[in-house]
Amino acid sequence: MLTTNHPTLKPCPTPPSHPPKTHTTLTISSSSALPGHVKRLVLSPEGRAKLNVLPDRDFYSFPRFVTHVDDGFISALTGLYRDRVSPGSEVLDIMSSWVSHLPEEVKYKRVVGHGLNAAELARNRRLDCFVVKDLNNDDQRFEFESCSFDAVLCAVSVQYLQCPEKIFAEVFRLLKPGGVFIVSFSNRMFYEKAVAAWRDGTAYSRVQLVVQYFQCVEGFTQPEVVRELPGEGNGGPSPFGWIARMIGATRSDPFYAVVAYRNFKPVHETEGDRIKSNAS
Ligand SMILES: C[S@@+](CC[C@H](N)C(=O)[O-])C[C@H]1O[C@@H](n2cnc3c(N)ncnc32)[C@H](O)[C@@H]1O
Repeated sequence: MLTTNHPTLKPCPTPPSHPPKTHTTLTISSSSALPGHVKRLVLSPEGRAKLNVLPDRDFYSFPRFVTHVDDGFISALTGLYRDRVSPGSEVLDIMSSWVSHLPEEVKYKRVVGHGLNAAELARNRRLDCFVVKDLNNDDQRFEFESCSFDAVLCAVSVQYLQCPEKIFAEVFRLLKPGGVFIVSFSNRMFYEKAVAAWRDGTAYSRVQLVVQYFQCVEGFTQPEVVRELPGEGNGGPSPFGWIARMIGATRSDPFYAVVAYRNFKPVHETEGDRIKSNAS
């Protein structure tokens, strides 16, 4: 893994020279009932195949300073991060680029980025440091200690993972107990680089696929599915949709996220709870 620090970014902590080995090969063994182990494979060999078999590093070798989804999607994602990632958290944004979609006003302890294009990651103002690593080719293990992060994020990229079972198990290892993994996606993709199971699927089957990626790893909580479809807020179709269409402020990218926690979902005290306990 190449650990790269932009001149303006703080260095990542030096990784241990020999990180403990857990699951470098994807075999189902008697230890699969242990937390963090892969219980079963979700994808068949055909389901993992991509149309473009050239190295992913080459495909992502030039920087793309674009957003891959529309403003409505990004605002739903930022809102979800605001709800689920507490201020002061240690955050890892995997398969990242020049944007992380985290709420600007929230301060985190550190945000580490990962992706394939160093120039994109160097431009990402939310990152304290970043690493470059091909999750479909290099060893699928990050050189971070176990239980290092409160939150791991993966935005609009899960469709490119050819060994998602290993990556979800690795994310489990990196999360602290109670830490959250948020995987978001829409219906856009680099078609030639998406795995067949995704490419050939429907919106429904893609949600189910990500749910299964979580469920195949022992110890994640039951995955929650968050959806916001075009023309709908969380409460259903908007009565003001026609106004938005008239002023060109419609959103067209459906928003999906699947969220689960390592071991348990923490119960956070809300502002309302604090007011009640101060009043009593
Ligand atoms: C559609 S972009 C999304 C980037 C970012 N998460 C965002 O929300 O804009 C897909 C990202 O997946 C990453 N990616 C694709 N294949 C990868 C691989 N084999 N290993 C690691 N990262 C990969 C690329 O670096 C690229 O930035």
